[in-house]
Amino acid sequence: MAVAIAPSILAADFARLGEQIREAEEAGADLLHVDVMDGRFVPNITLGPLVVEACRRSTALSLDVHLMVEDPGRYLEAFAAAGADGLTVHAEATQHLHSSLASVRRAGLRVGLAVNPLTPLEVVCEALPLLDLALVMSVNPGFGGQTFIPTTLGRLERVRTWRDRLNPDCRIEVDGGIVPANAAAVARAGADILVAGSAIFGGEGSIAENLDSFRDELRST
Ligand code: DX5
Ligand code: ZN
Repeated sequence: MAVAIAPSILAADFARLGEQIREAEEAGADLLHVDVMDGRFVPNITLGPLVVEACRRSTALSLDVHLMVEDPGRYLEAFAAAGADGLTVHAEATQHLHSSLASVRRAGLRVGLAVNPLTPLEVVCEALPLLDLALVMSVNPGFGGQTFIPTTLGRLERVRTWRDRLNPDCRIEVDGGIVPANAAAVARAGADILVAGSAIFGGEGSIAENLDSFRDELRST
């Protein structure tokens, strides 16, 4: 399967959010990544179900909602009702990870698990049979525009080995500091979905040109 690109709206111009989302969709984005931050799990605050619902009305793209919030179980229903297609919770954000993943499944959405850069990957291995998506963070979550952490490549390789053995249908996603220059490397290491914010909404060219730059680099993989 071709590597998918998920523009992260965190780097979009929120005064023109609908327009920018439609531009990304027309340019062939594969899904739309939506970063929810609560000011507790991460220092930053971004958006909630209201904006997810607005995204839902702006696009037919699948909404890949990344919950960087403490105790995500409190909000799963609200994001499901807002129109999310997949919900990703952080292993570090809840004492009751199995329960949160099961709630996402019960809501009929794609089940995602995210791990921070130094979180032991064993939790991904344990959870793999329950997952549709394993998100390997390549920066410390909280802000766009950070630099890719190179040890992520080895982590992607380990997750891919487990994924191939335990749940071949699970997709592996990488998020943070992804730019055309490292796109091929992360794809070769195992990433199936590349999240990119600044490089798409804040890159040198138009949204379409920036997406093309990724595709050019990925052609070699
Ligand atoms: C970071 C977020 C990312 C962010 C990536 O905490 O989870 O999705 O939007 O932004 P860039 O691509 O700018 O690193
Ligand atoms: Zn994200």
